[in-house]
Amino acid sequence: MTKDLVLAILKNSDTYISGEAISKELGISRAAVNTAVKSLRDAGFVIDSVNNRGYLLKSSPDTLSYGDILAHLSKERMENVKVFDEIPSTNDYARELALNGAPDKTVVISNCQTKGKGRRGRSFASPKGVGIYLSVIFKPDCLPKDTVSVTAQTAVAMCNAINSSCNVMPKIKWVNDLIINQKKICGILTEMGIEAETGHIQYLIIGIGINANHKLSDFPKEIRDFASSIMLETGNVVNRAKLAAQMIKELDILRDNMEDITAYLNEYKDLSATLNKDVKIISNEDEKIGKAIDINNDFSLKIKYPDGTIKDVSSGEVSVRGLYGYSD
Ligand code: BTN
Repeated sequence: MTKDLVLAILKNSDTYISGEAISKELGISRAAVNTAVKSLRDAGFVIDSVNNRGYLLKSSPDTLSYGDILAHLSKERMENVKVFDEIPSTNDYARELALNGAPDKTVVISNCQTKGKGRRGRSFASPKGVGIYLSVIFKPDCLPKDTVSVTAQTAVAMCNAINSSCNVMPKIKWVNDLIINQKKICGILTEMGIEAETGHIQYLIIGIGINANHKLSDFPKEIRDFASSIMLETGNVVNRAKLAAQMIKELDILRDNMEDITAYLNEYKDLSATLNKDVKIISNEDEKIGKAIDINNDFSLKIKYPDGTIKDVSSGEVSVRGLYGYSD
């Protein structure tokens, strides 16, 4: 923990900062500062030290520790952010926390997942050191029907987080895959608990997996044709801690403005890679082709079929012509 606090101070200082100033700020001994600096160096941080001037952080490995994220968020906010190096699934851990009374907006982040979960019971590849695997707990006092839009709203929030920290605006493939250059770089899985007596929401867990610095070999072979990472598509290494902090800021904004569906819907339409495209709708054994002519207020798709009929689709798999899954 001391190491994380020292790291946050070094990251926020553009000039040399003395060991004495650090020890005063944290209320720890000079020896504890020295020990923290040594262990940071062991972890790959390059920290210059000059007599009578102090320390200067020259470069950091792309790590995703508590201290890395603390450099971009307030200490108060970080009190409800749990950071792990490895965990089975951040969604599962967040659910345990939610059931044990964790407050609204609690966040769980991991550098790796050994049992990352995707939609429809699939697994979500979550290799170490290259992605961001984050779950947030929302505890809105409402019925499940009032939150049908939250996953789509999260997709908009994550586009904004990626745009502000990586300078690239992804598009959204309905309903909640983020894509860059037609490849998936982020998936979102929302789970909820409902109180049996009242039917009210007990908790919502929104899980977000971002492929940040993956090389192609980091993906399982079967998804290499359609999955990619922000680094592969932009050529720039992502500062994962900065992006994770930005994700948390956008999720806080979303939680405070969940009722303002219209603003998110308008942004969603602007970012949509599905609207006005030919789509293939797959439900049960059935496959139909139509055109996505609008996105309704509840984020369902309005589809026009070749025979002129118009229907709304709110669940199931939808592939977009020209995108993965529908390439004829
Ligand atoms: C999908 O595209 O199928 C959804 C993927 C969601 C993955 C995230 S990673 C963080 C959170 N923890 C999980 O086990 N899954 C979600």
